[in-house]
Amino acid sequence: MAEDGLPSDEGREHGIDASGIDAGEWTELIRHLEATIPVYDKVNSIVTLGQDSRWRRHVAKSAQPGMKVLEVGCGPGTFSERLAGVELTCLDPSEEMLAVAKKRVDAARSSRSEASAEYVAATAESLPFRNDSFDRVFCLFSFRDFHDKEKGLKEMLRVLKPGGLLVICDAGKGRFPHGLLGRLWMATVVQLVARRVTKNPDHPWKWLAKTYVHFGTIPFYRKMMRDVGYENVRGRLLLPFLMAGKLTGTKPK
Ligand SMILES: C[S@@+](CC[C@H](N)C(=O)[O-])C[C@H]1O[C@@H](n2cnc3c(N)ncnc32)[C@H](O)[C@@H]1O
Repeated sequence: MAEDGLPSDEGREHGIDASGIDAGEWTELIRHLEATIPVYDKVNSIVTLGQDSRWRRHVAKSAQPGMKVLEVGCGPGTFSERLAGVELTCLDPSEEMLAVAKKRVDAARSSRSEASAEYVAATAESLPFRNDSFDRVFCLFSFRDFHDKEKGLKEMLRVLKPGGLLVICDAGKGRFPHGLLGRLWMATVVQLVARRVTKNPDHPWKWLAKTYVHFGTIPFYRKMMRDVGYENVRGRLLLPFLMAGKLTGTKPK
């Protein structure tokens, strides 16, 4: 991290592309993500035709009770709150997101008689954890927002235990024509729904559409994961509507 708390650009001048987002754009993105908090779950549920909850349930099955689990980019805690029986760390660069997540996730954990989770303000690109710390690292709808995708993938590999699994779930983007359909969906349905729910023509989902436009395809990130050292890398669009994509990879033993 740079001294001002922002990730350093290390020469990045391209604004936003499949490999990352420059510091100026990223700061703006975080501000817009924070603005989604009051209606985050509601809008997501409508624009994914109710599938987001199903995807989270599906991904959560990759963690078993007793495991040490990290969610990178936990946002308001929508995924973390359903991770039962694990030793949980929730990480997000936004203190505002973490404050909402803490209330929500700890309430869910307390209702299951579990200890509070740990909450850490940091970015994926600079994880404040020792090597080989976690059995599972999850990234739900946050990988798209990483400042530097390759650096984030390397860091998540470093903190995974040997044999540990990374699961990324994000807006699905296959090759043409799937990517084009996704862009149309983001530019039309998502914008209309967000505008109506927030009652604000300048709603923050405009930014989410922008990160989707520049997001890479599943084959692009599969290659990136292999290149930084993950094994058993898999990536696919999730049924039934192919609106989300899942990437998984393990740390070599
Ligand atoms: C759309 S929310 C996802 C929330 C949640 N994981 C879910 O299941 O819906 C994306 C989150 O990623 C976080 N984020 C953005 N850039 C990040 C980075 N470089 N490292 C870690 N988290 C990041 C944002 O602050 C935001 O809270």
